[in-house]
Amino acid sequence: MQMEVDPDFECDFRDEEVLQAAVDELLRLGNAACDCPLTAGTTFAATLNCVTPHPHGRAPPRFASQLRRAYAIVLDHALHAEKGKLEVWLAHVVDPADGTVGEIVVKVVQPSLLVLPDQPEYVPPKKVAYTEDWMYRRLQPLQGYEIPYYFGVHTIVTPSGEGAWMLTMEYIQGHTITQYLNTLHDSSNPDITPVPIDVTPETHDRMKQIMVSSLEGINAIHARGVLHGAVQSDNIVISTACPAGPLVVYIDFARGVEYPGDNTHAIDNEQYAAPLFAIKCCAAHGYPLQEWGKSALFPNGPKYPRLRWFLQAMFS
Ligand SMILES: Nc1ncnc2c1ncn2[C@@H]1O[C@H](COP(=O)(O)OP(=O)(O)OP(=O)(O)O)[C@@H](O)[C@H]1O
Ligand SMILES: [Mg+2]
Repeated sequence: MQMEVDPDFECDFRDEEVLQAAVDELLRLGNAACDCPLTAGTTFAATLNCVTPHPHGRAPPRFASQLRRAYAIVLDHALHAEKGKLEVWLAHVVDPADGTVGEIVVKVVQPSLLVLPDQPEYVPPKKVAYTEDWMYRRLQPLQGYEIPYYFGVHTIVTPSGEGAWMLTMEYIQGHTITQYLNTLHDSSNPDITPVPIDVTPETHDRMKQIMVSSLEGINAIHARGVLHGAVQSDNIVISTACPAGPLVVYIDFARGVEYPGDNTHAIDNEQYAAPLFAIKCCAAHGYPLQEWGKSALFPNGPKYPRLRWFLQAMFS
């Protein structure tokens, strides 16, 4: 399954006037979006796709095992909202006949809130939305296990009147690795690096489990012929649903790509990053866990990546 080619993925902004007109219009829409943002209670209509339950994974929400149905998606609270990033919300799924039937995560790709086309990091918004959509469809067999169940992409009009795309997916109960690592450190003094406050053997065991699960998850993604594209600690959720499924769940596929078969460097890099981000906090956790990683026999045979130079750079 190749990623679809779409002319909207490659806007031609070589003409200065066309570029300036697009930037002006996006700035106007961005101001309108600031005056009239997404808020709790904002509602969109969407027909959610049903999903196939993973045989060993988390049970899908009840609404997702029925045929495609039209629901009201009512935003509840922002999980993440940052300029230049996507707005990510927890939302209720409301059936006109039955009331609230579940909760989902929605990722809103609103062009005026993304990087503008006059910036080098610009990516056409439609490409942002459809890359993640394509990744979820490509990784369909992993849905409900290594990645969230996915209910499709929808076009919406935001409260400020701007056209946008809304990706809908399973809410993974739990915390990202970033959030978990924060609980193990005292960050109250902004002038010094966070001080480890929990270095108990139980915590080290937990971190080992996260390392192993992260490596297994990324190997499963690579086995489907794609790279995740942004393996980092805020894109890996430690799921409270374990043992129904793995300990960690990968999210955020907006930078995913299909890889050519011989590009093993890119695969290696993500394999380095996956367990590294489970211990990327301080020397008190990082060094002993790296030593353990090098000596441990990982399940299903993956070799622990050689991380020494990474860690040296990180802890020096
Ligand atoms: N399916 C999910 N279940 C639970 N939490 C989620 C889920 N998706 C996103 N989140 C939370 O929202 C945050 C942001 O989501 P995500 O990483 O997908 O967006 P993003 O980083 O803004 O995207 P991008 O990097 O493409 O700009 C995550 O770090 C996580 O805390
Ligand atoms: Mg992210």
